[in-house]
Amino acid sequence: MFIATQSTTSEKRSQKLISLLKTVADNERQTHKLYTDFLQSSHSISDDITDLCHTALHEDKSHFDEILACLKRLEATSHSQQAQKLFFTPEYPLTTENLLQHLRDIEAFSVKAYNEICNISMEYDYQVFDLSYRNMNENLAHLDFVSNLLNNLHAGERL
Ligand SMILES: [Fe+2]
Repeated sequence: MFIATQSTTSEKRSQKLISLLKTVADNERQTHKLYTDFLQSSHSISDDITDLCHTALHEDKSHFDEILACLKRLEATSHSQQAQKLFFTPEYPLTTENLLQHLRDIEAFSVKAYNEICNISMEYDYQVFDLSYRNMNENLAHLDFVSNLLNNLHAGERL
């Protein structure tokens, strides 16, 4: 009886982890596209902002690839669960303000989701924990960057 209960708890934890990882993978895919769109649609941004955008874009692509590799490993030993699709692909064309607001919302959600993944995977799956902890911190930097861009835009400053 005890063994059966323990096994069920472990399976639930594994399914929750997989669902959250699918959600952040979808977020990383979307933010990678939004940073690309921002770079293509903004022709007069400073070199500093362009560099930071390229960094965020490449980091989010890397997060996406690494999360997919984690999912492949975890799904081999667990029943899959649907991802929570919380953000929908926006309708184009987007204004710069809408694009940045969308980016900010997804980055903020990803930070929360990675924090939850860290809490679940701590002392359970160190590979997932280390990856999620790093991704959370990199996305915190992206969130800070995008929030500053939005503040500058609202203040009427040049990006
Ligand atoms: Fe990001």
